[in-house]
Amino acid sequence: MAKNPIRVLVTGAAGQIGYAIVSMIARGAMLGPDQPVILHLLDIEPAAEALKGVKMELIDAAFPLLKGVVATTDVVEACQDVNIAVMIGGFPRNEGMERKDVMSKNVSIYKAQASALEKHAAPDCKVLVVANPANTNALILKEFAPSIPEKNITCLTRLDHNRALGQISERLDVHVGNVKNVIIWGNHSSTQYPDVNHATVATCDGEKSVRELVADDHWLKTEFITTVQQRGAAIIKARKLSSALSAASSACDHIRDWVLGTPKGTWVSMGVHSDGSYGVPPGIVYSFPVTCEKGEWSIVQGLKIDEFSRAKLDATAQELIEEKSLAYSCLN
Ligand code: NAD
Ligand code: LMR
Repeated sequence: MAKNPIRVLVTGAAGQIGYAIVSMIARGAMLGPDQPVILHLLDIEPAAEALKGVKMELIDAAFPLLKGVVATTDVVEACQDVNIAVMIGGFPRNEGMERKDVMSKNVSIYKAQASALEKHAAPDCKVLVVANPANTNALILKEFAPSIPEKNITCLTRLDHNRALGQISERLDVHVGNVKNVIIWGNHSSTQYPDVNHATVATCDGEKSVRELVADDHWLKTEFITTVQQRGAAIIKARKLSSALSAASSACDHIRDWVLGTPKGTWVSMGVHSDGSYGVPPGIVYSFPVTCEKGEWSIVQGLKIDEFSRAKLDATAQELIEEKSLAYSCLN
């Protein structure tokens, strides 16, 4: 029997990531090849014409899984009954801008859209915040939508996770699909800690640890970490625009694994509300290693954290605490 369509909200749908992600969702990359979808596209008035164009293209592409498109500048109409909300709407960082520069513009959007989601989305709606500062926007959204369960609000660090997999794959000249269990700890910013201490590579002689295969501890502790931390800025420098196709694809990975589950023995990184695991203070949205089953994520427990990692976990937590107070000062 055909499945009922799932309603997916994409905010900022006329923007770069929005334009890339809508076709991925309509092709089944987010919810599976047999799951019909209805797309709810939200943007602001100045982008209304462009949004119309996106809708026209979606119609023209004749996607078999796409059962409807609601394209609107009305946040209430956009949020109505949505099961998944991918929050991309906001302003990106341009060359030379620090992430903190986009803070004041974007956090106020998340405060304003929180209550529309709370009142009009489906009660079990799963929310993914992509717009920067992603962790702090997710936190603000939760604080101003108190009836949405904390576990339903997450932010995107899967792009950083995929970037880390990509760097290991390039270094070892192995296919990226054979590398797993890297971790992104903390903020989606340059203080994030990409950690390979538990990562493995599938080889013809079984699974081997990334540390053993790379052997060059110095590279792992320096260049690897900074390359992943600075990748967003490197892409802005090269494209004069921030990452879009990789962000869209990683957002699909995030929701797909959350809804359909992570493969056995594999974890992924998601920005979630800290429950105090690994000594990370509660009250911030922090990227942890998680596994997902039956639509629920849980933080992987019991991983050994060495002294080098401890300092990095704490530094990125500290930045998030500071970002939180900056966000509140922008809102006041
Ligand atoms: P963009 O400027 O191309 O698109 C953003 C869109 O949001 C625009 O169409 C704009 O009109 C719209 N918008 C602005 N205010 C809105 C509002 N109140 N409601 C709805 N829509 C609104 O930007 P982009 O390149 O698509 O990036 C979007 C966001 O994603 C940026 O904040 C960027 O920094 C962030 N980003 C995050 C990650 C991540 O991994 N978390 C990766 C890449 C980009
Ligand atoms: C990215 O990681 O590509 C984005 O968050 C863009 C940025 O501002 O770094």
